[in-house]
Amino acid sequence: MQYVTAILTGVGKALPEKCLTNADLEKMVDTSDEWITQRVGIKERRIAADGEWASTLGLRAAKDALAMANLPADQIDLILVSTTTPDTIYPSVACLIQKDLGATRAAVLDVSAACTGFVYASGVAWSMIRSGLMKNVLVVSSEILSSTVDWSDRDTCLLFGDGAGAVVYSASDEEGRGILSMTLGGDGNHCDILKLPNSGCRVFPEYKGRFLQMHGNDVFKLAVRTMSECAIEVLTAAGLTTDDINLIIPHQANIRIIDAITARLKVPKEKMFINIEKYGNTSSATIPIALCEAIEQGRLKRGEIVIFDAFGAGLTWGAMALKY
Ligand code: ACO
Repeated sequence: MQYVTAILTGVGKALPEKCLTNADLEKMVDTSDEWITQRVGIKERRIAADGEWASTLGLRAAKDALAMANLPADQIDLILVSTTTPDTIYPSVACLIQKDLGATRAAVLDVSAACTGFVYASGVAWSMIRSGLMKNVLVVSSEILSSTVDWSDRDTCLLFGDGAGAVVYSASDEEGRGILSMTLGGDGNHCDILKLPNSGCRVFPEYKGRFLQMHGNDVFKLAVRTMSECAIEVLTAAGLTTDDINLIIPHQANIRIIDAITARLKVPKEKMFINIEKYGNTSSATIPIALCEAIEQGRLKRGEIVIFDAFGAGLTWGAMALKY
């Protein structure tokens, strides 16, 4: 049987113009730039304007990724969108993006795995391409978390931002390139530590409104454990050690989570890509936005190996090794 894998041919990102700084937050809740910088590592985050949705931000990122891949929209076989904040449950965001791109041949699907959504969607893309069913898959991660945040709750409002990232995966027979290994997992027993009540048809009278609820300390500990384990699993599965890889792009939730993973994996700090200070936690969009910037900044070059490493509500977790 012919060898087939998925290579990364394009990346794109889209961030809203509006920037909310820690100084702005100091005027909204009882907090300080010093506390946020030290405990979380965020300086500012982007906030969607009226009329900016998961579909519109995602479309911008998708167009850039397709342009870089030099792929006409009618060549896309599948559009996968990871989002926790779809414009509507149906039509899916993937459908809305398909319409605006004119991707007439594409199958369309939204993926719900919270912050791990990009890695889950990339896993589906890889399997579709590896099986020979599809050649070109567009993955878009687009999040409007500002719509899920209680702006009077200092425990959560400073953590999140809006943004989108997109990638194109295409079939290739080049052995040893593209996606090398992947691990995905989850544990619904932890469903209560991070949730968005009243976001579906079930009513939670104990929560007013539709705002993200989080037990920060529990999330912190599980994030460090699962992301460290996932990184080691994908390295082992690909027959690699941390010396062989050039970059790790972890989900950007808290700088101290990233620092703890760096220590556990015993990797030099330069191998961790961090941009949380600019955008905060944009859920599943953090990894493709960071990937886009890593390539723009020359931190990831052709032939180099990167690890994507994520965790999210559910809980869900996952990682992937990829040779660019
Ligand atoms: N501003 C100023 N002070 C504050 C703030 C604030 N916003 N929040 C808490 N404090 C104070 C507390 O009152 C407490 O003061 P005390 O020591 O006098 O009692 C002190 O700071 C420490 O509070 P903690 O809640 O223990 O703060 P912690 O260091 O745990 O940080 C945080 C909280 C940032 C939420 C952290 O637990 C965290 O990052 N957790 C992970 C969150 C995360 O990753 N979420 C992502 C999920 S999104 C997704 O995956 C879908």
